[in-house]
Amino acid sequence: ETSAALLLLWAAIGYLLGSIPSGMILARVMGLGNLREIGSGNIGATNVLRTGSKTAAALTLLLDGLKGVVAVLLARGLAGEDAAQIAGLAAFLGHCFPVWLGFRGGKGVATFLGLMLALAWPVGLLACATWLATAALLRISSLSALVAALSAPVWMLLLGEGSLLVLGVLVASLIVWRHRANIARMRAGTEPRIGQK
Ligand code: G3P
Repeated sequence: ETSAALLLLWAAIGYLLGSIPSGMILARVMGLGNLREIGSGNIGATNVLRTGSKTAAALTLLLDGLKGVVAVLLARGLAGEDAAQIAGLAAFLGHCFPVWLGFRGGKGVATFLGLMLALAWPVGLLACATWLATAALLRISSLSALVAALSAPVWMLLLGEGSLLVLGVLVASLIVWRHRANIARMRAGTEPRIGQK
């Protein structure tokens, strides 16, 4: 059993890691402009791609994903499995609600994929594959993200990772909530395809 104080510490570490706005920083450093004034205004890789820089978008995806990976692996190595789940969830929350941006952060998709890969790589791989397959098929990033997020609890059940289910359902629900503007645009038929402005 990990003590509550230790879990709280890992929540704080995970949150701080997750709250680093990679996309925002990269866009600024690479002179691509202010993401808030581009496309959806989001700080994630999908919106970074709308600046026209595939490199910056790929780096954003990688770095935002790494936040989840690092939070989970650090906590697991130093404090065990419970701390790993808490740190992963906290990294996700940090990305979505970073104190540095007045709690107006991203939608959590890359960080979710990263933390899933680190917590249970077969589940993570299947979630990534779901994201890639739906993105290739439908060319709408937000829709692929929603399908991938909702698929994660299913993969957990199928692969016997029931101990992750609460986390999976929580994260999937938050991802749906964070995409409510995208869902409204999809219903109106105005959600852009990947790479479109
Ligand atoms: O990960 C966010 C993606 O699913 C949607 O991004 O910029 O189209 O709202 P965006």
